[in-house]
Amino acid sequence: MNYNREMLLRRAFLLAPLVPVLQGQDRQPNMFGDAEAYEQFMGRWSRLVAPRLVEFTGLPERGRILDIGSGTGSLAFAIAERNVRARVLGIDPSKEYVAYATSRNPYPDRASFEVGDAQQLHFPDASFDAALSLLVFNFIPDPTKALLELRRVIKPGGKLSAAVWDYGAGMRMLRTFWDAAVHIDPGAEKLDEKHMPLCRAGEMSALWRQGSLENVREQSIDIRMRFKSLADYWDPFLLGQGPAGSYVRHLDREKLQALRNEVKLRLSLSAEDTPLVLLGRVWSVRGIVPNRR
Ligand SMILES: C[S@@+](CC[C@H](N)C(=O)[O-])C[C@H]1O[C@@H](n2cnc3c(N)ncnc32)[C@H](O)[C@@H]1O
Repeated sequence: MNYNREMLLRRAFLLAPLVPVLQGQDRQPNMFGDAEAYEQFMGRWSRLVAPRLVEFTGLPERGRILDIGSGTGSLAFAIAERNVRARVLGIDPSKEYVAYATSRNPYPDRASFEVGDAQQLHFPDASFDAALSLLVFNFIPDPTKALLELRRVIKPGGKLSAAVWDYGAGMRMLRTFWDAAVHIDPGAEKLDEKHMPLCRAGEMSALWRQGSLENVREQSIDIRMRFKSLADYWDPFLLGQGPAGSYVRHLDREKLQALRNEVKLRLSLSAEDTPLVLLGRVWSVRGIVPNRR
């Protein structure tokens, strides 16, 4: 990591009082507004899932590929690394994430990023050979609208794939966090990410079929999330990214300590520096845009 975690944590705490209290599963603009914090919290795991999603999709060797909700760039970089003759464009509504991905882009000749919303694409019909999306569809306010837009901009016969964390069970990092949060604060139940759409087996493929994609196939992809210590697991939650980070920002010191203790208990960690491996599961889906629209 080329940034200082201490500095990030201090900044997260200083900003906390400025953030309005979360109501339900609201998408706060700043939930995806700090790219370095996101990298520490989730980007390091996205990087492990990204090549597996690319492999599952089976991309053409060349052509124009769209990465929807490209965030800090993990998926676009994984595509550019493997498909050297392809051109990847990542779009994301977070200008901070787009700026970060652009500034860290190791493949400027074949990957680029711009601000955009999957529900309203400014590209002409049939302008991409394929599109992929990693850990995004559950955050899109109208996923059906986004799917139809993607179908429009992908050429007939082109592939569309996506993956979403299995928040209710197999994404152990977040599952443990929310179970502990609800235990110490029952009010957190409505914020638990397991209530988000499209995160259970069969939901992504149902959406793809609803959108009349062909040859739809869904499968889980598992990664191992290795943490060096409790701090390596816990500290990134304090950086304010994603729904869990947003929730943590509103806890007072006492609640925060209670939550940390509860998490430690649930992870069965005997000591602060005990290393830890957790399962991280996504549900991934792929399909083909039909020739007749
Ligand atoms: C959990 S992050 C995933 C980022 C990246 N794909 C990764 O795997 O690390 C979710 C991303 O979805 C983006 N997002 C939210 N609403 C979106 C929309 N309507 N269209 C496109 N992206 C969206 C967010 O800005 C954020 O970058």
